[in-house]
Amino acid sequence: MKESEGMWWTLAAIALATIAIYFVTQFRAKKKLPSNTILPPHVWSWIPYVGSALEMGNGVVSFIRSHGKRLQSPIFTATVLGEKYVFIADPELLTMVFKSKYSKYLDSWSLSKTFMIRVVGVEPHEEESMFGDRTFLKMTMRQMHHYLMKPEQLEIALQRVQGFFRNNLPQLVVATSISDTTTTWVSHDAMFSMVVQSVFKATVGPIISDCLIQDDSYCEAFRQFDKGVIPLFNKAPSFLTRKARQARAYLLETLQSQEFLEQASPIVKTRQETIKNLSPAALSKTTLALIFGAVGNSAPALFWCLLHLLHNPAAWEACRAQVESILAKRQQDKDDITFTMADLDQMTLLESAFWETLRLYQGNFTARRVTEDFVMETSQQNYLLEKGTQLMPFWAVLHHDPAVFPNPMQFQYDRFVGANNKPVFTFASGATVNYWPVVAFGGGEHYCAGRKFIAYEARLYLAMLMLNFDMRLAEGETIPGIDRSNIGVGVCHPDREVKVEIRRRVKDLHS
Ligand code: HEM
Repeated sequence: MKESEGMWWTLAAIALATIAIYFVTQFRAKKKLPSNTILPPHVWSWIPYVGSALEMGNGVVSFIRSHGKRLQSPIFTATVLGEKYVFIADPELLTMVFKSKYSKYLDSWSLSKTFMIRVVGVEPHEEESMFGDRTFLKMTMRQMHHYLMKPEQLEIALQRVQGFFRNNLPQLVVATSISDTTTTWVSHDAMFSMVVQSVFKATVGPIISDCLIQDDSYCEAFRQFDKGVIPLFNKAPSFLTRKARQARAYLLETLQSQEFLEQASPIVKTRQETIKNLSPAALSKTTLALIFGAVGNSAPALFWCLLHLLHNPAAWEACRAQVESILAKRQQDKDDITFTMADLDQMTLLESAFWETLRLYQGNFTARRVTEDFVMETSQQNYLLEKGTQLMPFWAVLHHDPAVFPNPMQFQYDRFVGANNKPVFTFASGATVNYWPVVAFGGGEHYCAGRKFIAYEARLYLAMLMLNFDMRLAEGETIPGIDRSNIGVGVCHPDREVKVEIRRRVKDLHS
């Protein structure tokens, strides 16, 4: 038999085995279905193990919508990289994942656990101390709430961020030196890198340790690690993750160093003093996860927000005029601008632009493993969700729904102005969206502890850029696409760098 024939027979055998396993599973499940309950229909793929992964890679929202429509079912399953995933095509059903009626059947810890093991590198001997009673998570969350959610503590953290921006923005924004009086335009070829560096330094300094902002190598290592997050999560071959693992080792070593601990933030110091059941190596891994949580989403979010405001000069001017009017009311010297949270609260246009960014670019799944078979009820039909499957609510199904958000793919910087206390968004069915319609920070047990901090930091960063610089996209520059190899973890990354031009604003010009 020729070698190629052998290969075909092997493939055929794998495909037949997969079909057989599928039908046996369906048969078993059907036997125990309560009345008026069906198994969600399954998207069939002829590629064993890989399943629908390739099709999803071409666009997750279109994958979910098109199969939901084709199967005429708001819920369906598909095989992706050997796992059975449950997708939700009806935006009205997405929040089921946070409802206590269902969340008791879901392991909300499964995603973090997999992330910690595969991406952060938690070793088998560290698993019990880390995942056993979850003490470290509970303590971390308590401390994060204390330092980043309580208004008086949050104000202190934001003042530190502001101090950092005040002293460092010029060097961060324009790599080449730009004198205080020069008003000529300077080109910058890599706006994404510029924003990542600004956000990394402004965030990890106050929240983690000043040690990490004294040397660019830490930010570089973070970026290298960040690029490896999806391949590490998907257990890609080791040659594809070598650089990310090296960067991770470098960061983990730093996070245990004396220098790092001496300059640690109150959050990290408190963790150090109170979390006793983790070894220094294991604790440094939880700190790395925290750094990823604090910067991994924030940096691309601020990049897209800035980019879209530059793309629409009228939006940039409107936001800047609002910031200046807030300052004018306070009659403060422009050389000593200190924004309080009360000032930032008045920047409603920048706040709206930030939500609009998250609406358009948040690309995360709230992945949760089903721990026990349960029945999910919908108005038309009940569905049995089987133990062991992975529930994959994808929020862009809601965020990009034209019924909820007219012209959903357009960046409308002022879309959310005035929407704070009013239920102004409705689903296609006519039902009101009775929660804040941009579900960018998760919910339930794992609700983002940095959500308030980043919402203020975003306004601070953009306002300080606007006050100190004129910026414009370079001639012919456009909005880049999203990096498809990086979808699923959080806010999407751009697929290329962006060229901008920047000049310092001189006081006389604008006073
Ligand atoms: C635009 C920026 C951000 C976005 C979009 C974002 C999004 C999220 C999401 C979706 C979750 C829930 C994950 C899950 O359900 O498993 C989460 C959790 C979390 N985030 Fe954020 N986040 C951002 C910024 C931050 C910042 C600045 C910090 C820290 C200063 C932070 C710290 C955390 C922590 C500690 C958790 C809890 C993790 C857990 O309980 O497992 N995040 N974030």
